[in-house]
Amino acid sequence: MVPQQKIDEIIQATQIQEVVGEVVRLKKRGVNLLGLCPFHNEKTPSFTVSPAKGIYKCFGCGKAGNSVNFIMEHDGLGYIEALKSLAEKYNIEWPKQENVNIDEERKLKTEKESLQILNNWAITYFEENLWQHEEGKTIGLSYFTERGFRDDIIKKFKLGYSLNAWDDLLTKSKTAQFNEDIILKSGLVKQNDQGKQYDAYRGRVIFPIHGANGKVIAFAGRQLIKDDKSPKYVNSPETVLYHKSNELYGLFMAKNAIRQQDFCYLVEGYTDVISMHQAGIENVVASSGTSLTEGQIKLIKRQTENVTVLYDGDAAGIKASIRGIDMLLEQGLNVKVVLFPDGDDPDSYCKKVGSSQFNQYLQQEARDFILFKVNLLLKDAQHDPIKKATVSREIVESISLIPDGLKRSAFIKECAGLLDMPEQVLLTELNKTRNAHLTQKEKEFINQPPAETLNYEEEIKQVIEEYGQKNQETQVIKLLIQFGNKPMEGFNSAAHYMLHQIAEDEIDFELETSALILNEVKHLLHQALPVTSEYFIHHQNPVISSIAANALATAYELSEQWETKFDVLMTKPDENFIKEIQSSLLHLKLRNTQKIMLHNLKEIEVLQQQQNSDALLIHMMLHKELKEKEFKLAQQIGAVILN
Ligand code: CTP
Ligand code: MN
Repeated sequence: MVPQQKIDEIIQATQIQEVVGEVVRLKKRGVNLLGLCPFHNEKTPSFTVSPAKGIYKCFGCGKAGNSVNFIMEHDGLGYIEALKSLAEKYNIEWPKQENVNIDEERKLKTEKESLQILNNWAITYFEENLWQHEEGKTIGLSYFTERGFRDDIIKKFKLGYSLNAWDDLLTKSKTAQFNEDIILKSGLVKQNDQGKQYDAYRGRVIFPIHGANGKVIAFAGRQLIKDDKSPKYVNSPETVLYHKSNELYGLFMAKNAIRQQDFCYLVEGYTDVISMHQAGIENVVASSGTSLTEGQIKLIKRQTENVTVLYDGDAAGIKASIRGIDMLLEQGLNVKVVLFPDGDDPDSYCKKVGSSQFNQYLQQEARDFILFKVNLLLKDAQHDPIKKATVSREIVESISLIPDGLKRSAFIKECAGLLDMPEQVLLTELNKTRNAHLTQKEKEFINQPPAETLNYEEEIKQVIEEYGQKNQETQVIKLLIQFGNKPMEGFNSAAHYMLHQIAEDEIDFELETSALILNEVKHLLHQALPVTSEYFIHHQNPVISSIAANALATAYELSEQWETKFDVLMTKPDENFIKEIQSSLLHLKLRNTQKIMLHNLKEIEVLQQQQNSDALLIHMMLHKELKEKEFKLAQQIGAVILN
């Protein structure tokens, strides 16, 4: 158990905008901050952070919570591990546990947590090999030094060395009490067909791969001498910690520089990133050789909208990469490219010309991608009208992917000049392409026939059967969290009033989480404590804190977007909370009554079959009462709404 005092200390120190800011670039929007949701795919930001309340909420996918929830969700950690990670971030000492059996403790951890501990151990091991071990120093360190990497840069990237032995890591990790299953899952040790286990990276230099939180989540081992019989790099397999298509090499080290300069360089390899850091350029990430994925683009877009892609000089390579660049455009990024002389990549070119000339080269050679593409393709098409038509189509294809209409028109204008084509022709082509690219879903949506009208009573029945009273419960709970502590005539507080109403109809909550929060409220009132939103936001149970964040985020201040989009909120709920509370309780009571009615009707059906007339009579009378109650509640709801 972590002492409550420690939890309070951590919560006190934590700034939600800093925690979320680690992974999402946030822009100020009124009193809140807005960014692209890290939990679902979106092109326009609807992820809102309220520093004052200490919560986040995505109006796109509905995820909400406090800082602890965010870390749990984003890093896939448990509650305690998430707290610990916050403590680390804010330099708060974590209580030492005495006499804990390491084995027992490790068993309790999730696979993700166990892998992280193993990786932390392994990177220290690889670094020690590099800096302290004779073999590491003479082979590994001298390899890096000969490549021109400075010591401080080697340390910054935590480069390491894996001894050229079959089972050095294997043996040492086992001595350190790591579980064999986890060791194999990490990919640090492999097993051949005969069942023999061996160090996967033996005799290679190690490039650790950092996740967004700065932890080492995977490794790449590079061979030291060119040998076509084995791969140049051995990379970690996919694990619960590492999904290759959702990581960018160097992002953690680049993040601050990317934000400061509001653009980012995209290169291919580990060594390119490292060399550029050494040359003082820190806003650089690598796709690690494979073609760019949507996940990687999203990572960039959370930091900046401006990307400059650095290309090795060969033409075949460029043409192969054009699809990846089109994907950048599609996500709304502004793309520039820099081409290096044939045979050079950023790493080799930087070494060749030196830092200052390299910097200068980047600045002078950066070209807008679309215009670069026009020039590249036109080289082959000069004086050939058919080829020129193909080129135009390909260019329009790229332009059509840009989500911003103004940017599209600007590019069409510019390209019309370059291609020597009437602007109108390109525009027509652009519209054709954009129509062809509507997704199946979008087409269906456009062609949708109007929904048929449903039989109202039938619908009510369906809704009751399907949802019961869960929605009404949720609404009541939200209002309890938002306004529980407000004054209410005739009662100590709104919470007292609400609890009284719920008890009056003996309503049992169906949703476990709602029942849980209702119970909390009862406890608070019992101890004469106020029912405040802060209590729920900082609640130890992450389920409760997340529900609380959600409840508060739907309140007026956070729902600017919602309001402007749909114009549904006529008045601020805060001013009208009494009406809202009354209406939500009446709806809950109505649903509860209908639920009992439905149950009773089913009973009546059975009794009719059994011809049990005594029992039938009682149930029929109950039905009549319930009908009357239903009518009265419906009237009251009408009255509240109309008043
Ligand atoms: N890559 C890989 N596996 C390979 C080859 C390449 O994962 N067998 C990835 C690595 O991320 C590498 C990038 O592709 O960094 C670029 O490849 P390459 O240019 O061949 O490697 P560099 O890291 O640049 O190494 P060097 O400069 O020594 O050639
Ligand atoms: Mn390279």
